[in-house]
Amino acid sequence: MSYKEQIDMTRVPKHVAFIMDGNGRWAQAQGQERSFGHSAGADRMHDIMTCGARLGIKYMTYYAFSTENWSRPEAEVNYLLDLMLKHLEEEIFVKNNIRFTIIGDISRLPEHQQNACRQLMERTKNNDASCMVVAFSYSTRWEMQRAVRLIAEEVQEGKLKPEDITAETIDQHLMTNFMPEPELLVRTGGEERLSNFLLWQSAYTELYFTDTYWPDFDEECLYKAVVDYQHRQRRFGKTGEQVTGKV
Ligand code: IPE
Ligand code: IPE
Ligand code: MG
Repeated sequence: MSYKEQIDMTRVPKHVAFIMDGNGRWAQAQGQERSFGHSAGADRMHDIMTCGARLGIKYMTYYAFSTENWSRPEAEVNYLLDLMLKHLEEEIFVKNNIRFTIIGDISRLPEHQQNACRQLMERTKNNDASCMVVAFSYSTRWEMQRAVRLIAEEVQEGKLKPEDITAETIDQHLMTNFMPEPELLVRTGGEERLSNFLLWQSAYTELYFTDTYWPDFDEECLYKAVVDYQHRQRRFGKTGEQVTGKV
């Protein structure tokens, strides 16, 4: 039975997050420049986005560029910025009824690119088949710092009492406040770390690591990850018996 056939369509995760790693090594293994891998990786992101939407995944977050990635060689950073702009084509989002959103410190992007992002968000805001979230210039430590400042300002202005601050208050001030936490987080490229991605939000997320480089991560790979996820027991601190009801 194919992986697709093994998927229980009644239990498809609502939110899947991806750390799209391995583009550079994928290209280098073929004697190509790293940029060749980034370009193939961006095409792959669109394939997986449309495939995930067809499967009924309501939110997909793609880690495309981290706060730390700003320290890569200037030529590579510029290539990644251009590539992201190139991939903000409206057509694919309109055709597939997908909403586009970006999380991260976009104030670090060139003005014209910030405008292009805002425009695409505005034009796709009513699309509801699925929501594609690109994490660009993103890291959780940056996001938490921003959230703490926002909360402190509200306290200073007297809108919020320190004793009323809860985990929910923090959630509401994160850039991810419009979506549920990811049930599944996929990292390609062989590394088993989070690299500053959704650290708060993935407290109870199922982690899935694969050696496959991102440009090789095809539809079958996505189905396989979902099947793997569906075989796990999520206990949220409880016992297995409590979760299955066999107490
Ligand atoms: C992931 O691929 C894309 C970005 C971080 C922008 P890498 O560029 O990190 O590829 P590897 O890990 O060097 O192979
Ligand atoms: C993580 O990949 C960031 C993205 C995929 C955007 P990196 O390649 O930057 O992560 P590290 O440096 O290996 O942890
Ligand atoms: Mg990498």
